[in-house]
Amino acid sequence: MPVTRFIDRDEELRALDDAWRSRPCLAVIYGRRRIGKTRLVLEWCSRIGSCIYYNAVPAKHEVNLRELARAIEEAGIRGFSRARYESLDALLEALAYRVGSCALVIDEFSYWVRAEPRAAGELQRFVDHVLGKTRMMLVIVGSLVSVMHRSVVGGGAPLYGRARYRMRIEELSPWSVAEFYPWLEPEDVVRMYALFGGVPHYHSLVEYSWRPLEALAKLVLAPTAPLRDEALFILREEFREPSTYYSVLRAIAQGCTSPSSIASSIGVHRQHVSKYLAVLESLGLVEREKVLFSKRGAYRIRDKFLAMWFRVAEPLITMGIEVSDADLPSAAASSFEAHVAHTFEEVAMHYMRWLRRSGALAFDEIGRFVHKGVEIDIVALDRGKRVAHLVEVKWSDLDERDATRIARDLEAKARHLPIEGYSTRLHIVCRSFSGERLDNASIHTVRDMPLSKPRK
Ligand SMILES: Nc1ncnc2c1ncn2[C@@H]1O[C@H](COP(=O)(O)OP(=O)(O)O)[C@@H](O)[C@H]1O
Ligand SMILES: [Mg+2]
Repeated sequence: MPVTRFIDRDEELRALDDAWRSRPCLAVIYGRRRIGKTRLVLEWCSRIGSCIYYNAVPAKHEVNLRELARAIEEAGIRGFSRARYESLDALLEALAYRVGSCALVIDEFSYWVRAEPRAAGELQRFVDHVLGKTRMMLVIVGSLVSVMHRSVVGGGAPLYGRARYRMRIEELSPWSVAEFYPWLEPEDVVRMYALFGGVPHYHSLVEYSWRPLEALAKLVLAPTAPLRDEALFILREEFREPSTYYSVLRAIAQGCTSPSSIASSIGVHRQHVSKYLAVLESLGLVEREKVLFSKRGAYRIRDKFLAMWFRVAEPLITMGIEVSDADLPSAAASSFEAHVAHTFEEVAMHYMRWLRRSGALAFDEIGRFVHKGVEIDIVALDRGKRVAHLVEVKWSDLDERDATRIARDLEAKARHLPIEGYSTRLHIVCRSFSGERLDNASIHTVRDMPLSKPRK
């Protein structure tokens, strides 16, 4: 498999550089597995040049202490692994005596802590009593978000409040995802984004010249596909008892967006559902989508890969529909395309923000509008100039007639918005458009988005 070029993460690299300049300090990096934490940290290490890197294993304390000492010795601290260290703080203190300025990265610390909870307390002792007197930067990385909350970054955690830098690594934007696919047209880049979200690992599995449906079959649906069980794996890693979380996610994927509709769909009391949702939200697996002029948000699956898996793969897998990677059943293709249409609304939201960053559009607030049966995909409010941008998002190929009709409907819906004194601007975001442009609505297609092939 070709190793892909390093994409984006400029902000994260800058934050790590800032931390490095203000050492001694502790930096914490966490986020779901496959999101690119290790790659980010190694990229940064190669830039600063004086890094010790250790990847912890889910094993006994002694094993991790011994292996960490060995990694330190291999980084050039001679004889370091000859001593036996009783605790992590003793080891780190010994290291502090031996090195001047350096960065020590402990990757997958969450596996170490899950196996040996005392590791967090020992690290805290070192941070509280020794780190300040050194020239070290300690970088703690973890994939198990629940463990990182409990032991490192959350209130009440041993290391709570001690990290100068705390970064949760998020999915790449659709525009960065485009960089993985120089051979694809922008429509197919949107499909790839709908398939794997902004998780770089999944994109790096796609082979040159593959189209989205091929990637779906070969990487997700086929009996031996590498990502067929990935969603289950993620849930089993985070939760001892994943079944209720699984059911909640499944219900959301099937269209339940409020705690009460989820509760009645899975037969669990509403209050319990709220608790499960709060946990899923804190882990970044679900989120509440902003609904303008309303306190209630609609729940949706935030992790793009899980959203795809529960919408597209799970129903096929549960029904035992066989998929060979040569021929995808039409049910799979059409449910995937429906999922793409759904995801396109999020891409359109990214696009609106991109327009704002590039100065083409101004607004202070953005979200969906839902009120008494009236729905507008995106409303963006410019409170200063009192302008409301109303956006209809359509994953289809429109002509002039379609667009005229959509603009008319949008205008009618505008009357339901509680925005007196605002002027409105209409926008249609669609896959493609042919015909004369309209006077009363701006039309944007995927070709206007920064998704095109990078120039060679
Ligand atoms: N910014 C990036 N650009 C290109 N590829 C990336 C990037 N981040 C991660 N990858 C690729 O994705 C895969 C998973 O990344 P990794 O850093 O191992 O994730 P994590 O440590 O969060 O589980 C690796 O193959 C890596 O090369
Ligand atoms: Mg990693």
